[in-house]
Amino acid sequence: MFKLAHISDIHLGPLPSLSLRELASKRITGFINWHRNRRSHMAGDTLNTLMDAIDRIDLDHLAITGDMVNLASSREIETVTAWLQDAGEPRNISVIPGNHDAYVPGAYEKATKAWYPYMRGEDAPAVWDEDFHCYPYMRVRGNVAIIGCSTALATPPFAASGYFGRRQARETVNLLRAAGEAGLFRVVMIHHPPIRGATPTHKRMIGIRRFGATISAGGAELVLHGHTHLNTVYSLRGQKMPVPVVGIASASQGPGGSKPPAGFNLFSISGSPGNWKLLRERFELNEIGRGVHLAETTRFLA
Ligand SMILES: [Fe+2]
Ligand SMILES: [Fe+2]
Repeated sequence: MFKLAHISDIHLGPLPSLSLRELASKRITGFINWHRNRRSHMAGDTLNTLMDAIDRIDLDHLAITGDMVNLASSREIETVTAWLQDAGEPRNISVIPGNHDAYVPGAYEKATKAWYPYMRGEDAPAVWDEDFHCYPYMRVRGNVAIIGCSTALATPPFAASGYFGRRQARETVNLLRAAGEAGLFRVVMIHHPPIRGATPTHKRMIGIRRFGATISAGGAELVLHGHTHLNTVYSLRGQKMPVPVVGIASASQGPGGSKPPAGFNLFSISGSPGNWKLLRERFELNEIGRGVHLAETTRFLA
């Protein structure tokens, strides 16, 4: 039995004070949005409560599907680096970037360099440099292959779209096929929901159809995403049966907001190729925000 937890969109706060030059850039739009929409419900205590609950589980791996920061300033990226080091060993945690992690030009590179130990695939160089494509990466833990894709783009003000291009599609198919031939349970991480209509148009991913074709050509057992801050289950066409596509609320969302409170998915993976068993338990912050409770149980691939 392999136990995999999934959190997303930690949007780690507090929001740093920004220099005048930073405020003069596009970050100002995000700064206003953040204060208007998020501050009251995005409390650091919420994330700590979730992580405490996750720490009590005998976990094999933690998957984090992006949006680690809000405005991708250097200070926020450093805060996340420290948070990750505190959360656990790089070999036990896999991270992919979200649109907020590439909020301004240069942020994507800075974040990838800083968080690379948590995104480093098998046989990838020890230190990331800009000539090396980090994504998709594949990490094998037990009988599970974790494949991390990136949809992060530095986007214009108020846009939150993502992109899944040809090169990544091709390389992801190759990784999925190799993992399938090795008899591994394949988990694909992607920040944007690869499902038409799952987000408003300006927040969608370009390449949804390409990603769907990638999954059906390469084969996969589970797709994890974030971005919507919602607890959702969709599916994509697989090779033999539908592949579950699971989203989760923001790990920093306190109770009483317009979006569902923070939570995490706990997946229990057992069985063998052709006969995988997948149980998902979704835990959610309780009403007073001081602990979590089991909110939903779903069996997939049965
Ligand atoms: Fe987000
Ligand atoms: Fe996002």
